[in-house]
Amino acid sequence: MEERVEVGPWAAEAFVDYERLLKVFGAKPLTDLEVGKLERLAGESNAMLRRRVFYSHRDLDVYLNMYEAGRRCALYTGRGPSGYTHLGHILPWVFTKWLQDRLGLELFFQMTDDEKFLHEERLDLPESNRFAYENSLDLVALGFDPRKTHIIIDSEDIGYLYSIAVRVAKKITYSTQRATFGFTDSTNVGLVFYPVLQIAVCFLPTELYGEETYVLIPAGIDQDPYWRIARDVAQSLNYPKPSQIHNKLLPGLGPGGKMSSSKPETAVYTTDPPDVAAQKIMKAFTGGQPTVELHRKLGGNPDRCSVFKMYEMLFEEDDVKLSERYWNCRTGSLLCGECKAELASRVWKFLRDFQEKREREKDRLDRYLIRSKFGEPKMRR
Ligand code: TYM
Repeated sequence: MEERVEVGPWAAEAFVDYERLLKVFGAKPLTDLEVGKLERLAGESNAMLRRRVFYSHRDLDVYLNMYEAGRRCALYTGRGPSGYTHLGHILPWVFTKWLQDRLGLELFFQMTDDEKFLHEERLDLPESNRFAYENSLDLVALGFDPRKTHIIIDSEDIGYLYSIAVRVAKKITYSTQRATFGFTDSTNVGLVFYPVLQIAVCFLPTELYGEETYVLIPAGIDQDPYWRIARDVAQSLNYPKPSQIHNKLLPGLGPGGKMSSSKPETAVYTTDPPDVAAQKIMKAFTGGQPTVELHRKLGGNPDRCSVFKMYEMLFEEDDVKLSERYWNCRTGSLLCGECKAELASRVWKFLRDFQEKREREKDRLDRYLIRSKFGEPKMRR
């Protein structure tokens, strides 16, 4: 019997059995061996690795060996600009920025305004294109290095991708696409073609540099289906197989599901006025008991709590403090109200600073656009 998978590019739960998902997807769990090597090369430890927020991979070991051997390496990640960016989206970007800083790597960042236009009934192309620029400000505010960060906006920069995409497309049958992405007879053909564009970026650095380039993709596990196909076709097209490192999904503030733009009241957007974000957090669904008395007596469940996950995945650097919070919740000495209020205040400050940076840099996006750096797209190999 086929297993039902709750996670994929267009649907995802958050409190899922991530171990089972690995087996179904066929990726490997991240072990102390890879974490140790990555941290050694980076020259510092990383909370998202220690806590296994990034928890699985494909060929990360191969990538790190290539990096160590001085082979050309790059990073690749992206965003489907269907609306404003929320904290779940920036989670993999925070880690990607750490990789860029510590390993000195160039990053190719894809903005798939075409994908979102094709997928979302409500969105017109100019609108998803506008969000591509809007969301790019989040990369600027996160502090990515403009000299080393190259944003590709699909609908405008297609010249960089098209010749790779058609070669990829020729290798993939409709039956593979249907089985991988769950397409049906009523799926529009744009969406059927779209995955080859997301795959094409895996091979773009090799074309642009005119030399074999190893690519690592830090991204949510929901994006994995693309990379399975990318890895299948890579060698027959003479490209190195792309490696991946997958993050778990930040839950939304409601009773279930990942933080998702389809449930705006349970998502904290980087553009939310800090007070609004704080209010959303104060209304969050937690792992607490229905009454204070019961909570004091029975304790809460931080493993199923969206507020605790926010601390664990983004807002608490200190392992000792995180562990105290965990046990204080479990034993009932920490009440949800206090725990939420403290998170609300951290998120409030984060957003205030982040929004200041977004505002300050908003006219300086050009420096990040691939077209402002690589000139006329052409095949180099
Ligand atoms: P998109 O816009 O759905 O998501 C952007 C990135 O955010 C991750 N993500 C999350 N991570 C943690 N918690 C969450 N709640 C959460 N929700 C989303 C996603 O896994 C992704 O890494 N098709 C892609 C755009 C894309 C892309 C790529 C993404 C193009 N090329 C390469 C990653 C890597 C999309 O719609 O992403």
